[in-house]
Amino acid sequence: MTIRLRNTVDGWGATARWLHWLIAALVLVQFVIGSVAEEMTLTPAKLDLFVWHKSIGVSVLLLAVIRLSWRLGNPPPALPDGTREWERKLAATAHWVLYALIFAVPLSGWWVSDASRVPFKAFFLVPMPDFIATDRSLQEAAAEVHEVLTMTLLIVIVGHVVAALRHHFLLHDDVLRRMLTGRRNRDQS
Ligand code: HEM
Ligand code: HEM
Repeated sequence: MTIRLRNTVDGWGATARWLHWLIAALVLVQFVIGSVAEEMTLTPAKLDLFVWHKSIGVSVLLLAVIRLSWRLGNPPPALPDGTREWERKLAATAHWVLYALIFAVPLSGWWVSDASRVPFKAFFLVPMPDFIATDRSLQEAAAEVHEVLTMTLLIVIVGHVVAALRHHFLLHDDVLRRMLTGRRNRDQS
């Protein structure tokens, strides 16, 4: 079996699929780490957990750059025949909002970190640039923005997952299957 990297009219290539699932997994891990770390009392373990949260977060940002660049040069496969106009528009809007949020959420988190007095070394190794001076009230404002954006991302993801499950279990089409395996049902026969 040959691995197809690029998308075709019918299906997603391996690059788009791997980037989709890798980012999805890391974002979900980020929700858990961020929420747990925030609830902890101030200990070295909390600071370490935040280093992981920030490091995975900037990795998501980097992967988002790669993914968007790839997407711009690789049109997505067509939706199934018979998909109504409002569904196409809703799907396209949700997808672009998701793309915007996988940039905006890590950037807002980085802003919180930058305004705080804690220096940030990605994966405890790579010192990250410090763009703004320590500012407690800016840090709190940025934390509010990060929280609103993460909650918005969560809501859009829930809608996105419901839509994917609807395609699979109610409409019985290939939309979820081709994102998982890259193949349409008829290719497997
Ligand atoms: C953090 C979590 C997620 C993010 C940020 C995300 C983002 C996206 C984006 C931006 C697209 C559009 C791709 C494009 O047009 O280039 C997409 C497609 C898709 N996603 Fe997700 N996704 C996430 C999680 C999930 C999950 C958990 C599922 C399934 C249960 C899922 C199922 C799909 C499917 C089936 C498509 C293909 C839709 C089509 O063929 O038009 N996604 N996702
Ligand atoms: C996909 C990326 C990310 C997701 C999904 C995410 C999610 C979260 C969540 C759920 C929380 C806890 C509640 C909240 O304030 O919203 C949180 C807090 C936090 N995150 Fe992120 N985050 C991401 C990336 C980042 C990055 C890249 C940084 C820094 C470089 C960062 C820094 C922080 C900080 C400092 C807090 C504590 C905010 C406070 O003091 O209230 N996050 N994040």
